[in-house]
Amino acid sequence: MGILQQNFNIQMKINSLQLENITVLAPLAGITNLPFRLIVKEMGCALVYSEMVSANGLLHKSRKTEQLLDSASEERPMSVQLFGSEPSIVADAAAMVESSGADIIDINFGCSVRKVVRTGSGVALMREPEKAEALLHAVRRAVSIPLTIKIRTGWDSSGSQAFRIAKIAESCGVDAIAVHPRTASQGFGGTADWSLIAAIKKMLTIPVIGNGDIVTPEDALRMKNETGCDAVMIGRAGIGNPWIFSQVLSLMRGETVAPVDLSLRCEIMIRYLKVSVNYFGEKHACYMMRSRLCWFTKGLPYNSSFRESIKRISSEDEATEMIRVYMNSLGNVGM
Ligand SMILES: Cc1cc2nc3c(=O)[nH]c(=O)nc-3n(C[C@H](O)[C@H](O)[C@H](O)COP(=O)(O)O)c2cc1C
Repeated sequence: MGILQQNFNIQMKINSLQLENITVLAPLAGITNLPFRLIVKEMGCALVYSEMVSANGLLHKSRKTEQLLDSASEERPMSVQLFGSEPSIVADAAAMVESSGADIIDINFGCSVRKVVRTGSGVALMREPEKAEALLHAVRRAVSIPLTIKIRTGWDSSGSQAFRIAKIAESCGVDAIAVHPRTASQGFGGTADWSLIAAIKKMLTIPVIGNGDIVTPEDALRMKNETGCDAVMIGRAGIGNPWIFSQVLSLMRGETVAPVDLSLRCEIMIRYLKVSVNYFGEKHACYMMRSRLCWFTKGLPYNSSFRESIKRISSEDEATEMIRVYMNSLGNVGM
């Protein structure tokens, strides 16, 4: 057994919902759409989150917002993340999400984007504990499926707002809490302070999902060991690299982590393209996949001409051919 490995439970429950393992895909606006979630799920991830969904947008029946609730049986269990600040509005939106078939409702307490904070939503809720409590009570009363929240450190680095919100959440009947330990002003800069995850884990009896700066499979294990968190949530590192979930699982089972071989990488890229075309239609999917397929080749040799040409794809066949030719060429140079 390697020094990073330890005997711990690699299963968890969120209330009565049993997860297959303890790897979680973070909500990523603009990224964790249905096709991406399906790919991540195929890589062994136990729980996927939607992109954040506006509670107001749902109540106003915005087509674009409603589309964010689209789901497929293969990706379940699936959590829909709502953002909003008005307790009755978020509660009504949560009831809509529950009837759409979601398995979990998550409330965003972490988004620090100015236009979200200005409306009192996201991380703004962390400095308004009374409002946060009213909101969580209202949502808890409105739905019976598991309810979770995702928080940041708060508005300063002390963690006092995170501790307060975590306690409030537990007392309101929230079933799990994801912690991204960066302050509101940090955005995604600096480093995540994992000691805060450990401190919150010690305070609560509900499961704590640790998040922030897991870049390699070893980081995931290190977070688990250092903080005692119940599950690990991965965001940016999964974007062009969804197989990180299967690598984390291998490591947690005490197996060695194999590098992803080129043919698997090639097949995943082609599948992601296909699933996106099926869902969005060829024109829109090809437009979206121009940047996404680039992310999948980050760090690979001779990727600049692939990246240049993939930026102009307009059909699935053309893109599939480009992926195959590039990946085969790497095989030929002995990758
Ligand atoms: C492009 C992007 C979009 C994000 N969208 C959301 C979101 O919709 N809801 C949310 O709670 N967090 C969002 N986050 C934050 C991530 O869920 C996560 O907390 C953060 O990236 C830290 O984890 P990581 O280091 O594994 O990426 C977003 C982050 C990025 C980079």
